[in-house]
Amino acid sequence: KIKKYELLYENAIDFVQLEVIKELGKKQIKKQKKMKEREKKKKREKKKKKHRSSSSSSSSSSSQSEEVVNKPQYPMEPQKPQKSAMQIVKEGLPIYKFRNQLLQLIRDNKVIVMVGETGSGKTTQLAQYLHELGYTRTGKIGCTQPRRVAAMSVASRVALEMGVKLGHEVGYSIRFEDCCNENTIIKYMTDGMLLREFMIDPLLTSYSVLIIDEAHERTLHTDILLSLIKDISRARDDLKVVISSATLDAQKFSQYFDDAPIIQIPGRRYQVDIYYTQQPEGNYVEAAVVTVLQIHVTQGVGDILVFLTGQDEIEDAEEMLKTRTKGFSKKIPELIICPVYAALPSEQQVKIFEPTPKGCRKVVLATNIAETSITIDNIIYVVDCGFVKQTSFSPSTGIESLQVVPCSKANANQRAGRAGRIAPGKCFRLYTAWSYNNELEESPIPEIQRTNLGNVVLLLKTMGINNLVNFDYMDPPPHEMLLRALEQLYSLGALNNDGELTKLGRRMAEFPLDPMLSKMLVTSEHFKCVEQIITICSMLSVGNTIFYRPKEKQVHADTAKKNFYRPGGDHMTLLNVYNQWKDCNYSKEFCYESFIQFKAMKRAQDIKEQLSSLCERVEIDVKDQSLSIYEDSSINIRKCITSGFFYNSAKKQKSGTYRTLKNSHEIQIHPSSLVFQEKPEWVIYHELVQTSKEYMRNVCEIKPEWLYEIAPHYFSEDFIKSNQKTLPKTKVDYNKF
Ligand code: CDP
Ligand code: MG
Repeated sequence: KIKKYELLYENAIDFVQLEVIKELGKKQIKKQKKMKEREKKKKREKKKKKHRSSSSSSSSSSSQSEEVVNKPQYPMEPQKPQKSAMQIVKEGLPIYKFRNQLLQLIRDNKVIVMVGETGSGKTTQLAQYLHELGYTRTGKIGCTQPRRVAAMSVASRVALEMGVKLGHEVGYSIRFEDCCNENTIIKYMTDGMLLREFMIDPLLTSYSVLIIDEAHERTLHTDILLSLIKDISRARDDLKVVISSATLDAQKFSQYFDDAPIIQIPGRRYQVDIYYTQQPEGNYVEAAVVTVLQIHVTQGVGDILVFLTGQDEIEDAEEMLKTRTKGFSKKIPELIICPVYAALPSEQQVKIFEPTPKGCRKVVLATNIAETSITIDNIIYVVDCGFVKQTSFSPSTGIESLQVVPCSKANANQRAGRAGRIAPGKCFRLYTAWSYNNELEESPIPEIQRTNLGNVVLLLKTMGINNLVNFDYMDPPPHEMLLRALEQLYSLGALNNDGELTKLGRRMAEFPLDPMLSKMLVTSEHFKCVEQIITICSMLSVGNTIFYRPKEKQVHADTAKKNFYRPGGDHMTLLNVYNQWKDCNYSKEFCYESFIQFKAMKRAQDIKEQLSSLCERVEIDVKDQSLSIYEDSSINIRKCITSGFFYNSAKKQKSGTYRTLKNSHEIQIHPSSLVFQEKPEWVIYHELVQTSKEYMRNVCEIKPEWLYEIAPHYFSEDFIKSNQKTLPKTKVDYNKF
């Protein structure tokens, strides 16, 4: 049965409806209706009673004092303490009914698997239940999240529910930000942070309960955590573990944990009508914007949730929505636009959860973070672009890049489900039904099978786990990928000829950074540019949010950016931006005038502080500043960058494109780079991004002789000087590592 979507908007997209996601919780909905009716009845009766009592009192003697008038005329029921509004909300969550069953199961088992629809209260409630039951008397409750935004927002929600200050009893810990103190008993954190805690306390003795949340996401860190926790759970009888997942394939987790019991928490879900486009959409950001406007002018009340792949797309869509609704304020209701993505500053995150004012409509522009990690109430319409951004690593070329790829069916269904949480909803897929049926994979590939494992392998090595091939993975990474990681760590000098951790490797592991960045940091001491390299690392870690380029002032913004240029390329330019900001007393005005994002700079400043103290921990002297920041120091700084990133080196071809030295792979300079025009002969890049082509982002100019001077074990002088295409094979056998 094909149902056409109504088209009232001018450039509207033609959608057809082919299916509905059936009501999963029919019984639940019936029950709710009954409960509501019962409540109404009760209210009516109460009113009647009131009426009766007041009329009876008025008929009695008027000389009666007020006290007597208010005295109940019927036998008094034992008065229950008044429930707070918060308590009522908490008890209304689907998980509440399962409280006792859940706690019983946890009492009787070391590991359990909990499955429940998003929004049923798993993340915010379980830790509180366990705390109420006394589990925090013997240790902390830790709850991991794959995403920093989720960790922060959930922690602040739980602090609010418990009536405590965030950072005290309830806190969060994410990379470069620790919002906990010695009294913290419920700690939300990213999975990567818990992984690092293994380095300090291999049995995690300070925890009595570990909740591995969003396990279905199967991030690299979560997967490794599962393996390590399986191990310590055997050694610790006092540790309780809960694996929490939003999808139904819990069997796998259960099997992995020696047939741990599964508890299902049925969520609420109403019917969701699914609409597909009739033709494939060339530009899904544009299509998303049009669809949002279409919904806004033709559909009834309810907020909209749009899934895009990243911050840049979200910002574009925000801009487009703003310009296209400008001037229509009298004709159409106000549209409140809320972006949500991983790097969103915490102040702005609050806005997402604020209730929409009457007469307005909220549109949330989100990455897949809103799929399961955070729940936004009142969503009735979902617009799904059908794509997701993910890192993929090709073991054959050894090249890792960020790519926008089609999402899986499981992702698409999760996204659609967000529309049916409070009432029947609609989901608009910006792709065809054919593409859904034929092009999308069933479920996403676990990250461990498609990403660079360098960082994790280094971490495992420091934990003394040497046999990485036979490690107990839930899904093992491809053998090739493990070899690549080992090879890279060996080339960086973190592992010796026998695959053992070197002193350098041990120091590198202290930093929560990619091994190439940590190598650069550790060697900065040798090149006498510690301070500068810390700054560069911090600026790179902020991501590509430093420069601000508003649509109406692009020329100004580009000129401002060019003025920051320093010979040597983007790294040197980033250093210059930071130092100029520092010279202006870290002022907001400076950022405003130069089209720099103040918040991004503040974050870089924070990261810099953290990295400095980590440097001190591994006895790198931060204060030893033998170099001034200008001119001749540039060579040392770029040599130091080379020491970490020689792996990412490329040479210009006659055609103007580049080829990687490692395997002659063709790549180009990203247009946002300041050396895009200049095109230096030899370069090193920070990362590769794949859109229509493969682009190098953040490019540094180098001299070819540095390569064999700094990484002689990797590049021979012969190789660099000759025109050989691919690197000769090394004699080291990484299989033995
Ligand atoms: O983890 P799960 O998806 O099962 O649900 P949850 O995150 O514990 O959310 C339960 C309820 O808390 C939802 O109704 C959310 O709207 C609310 N919540 C909130 O108001 N603010 C947050 N930062 C997180 C959750
Ligand atoms: Mg959750």
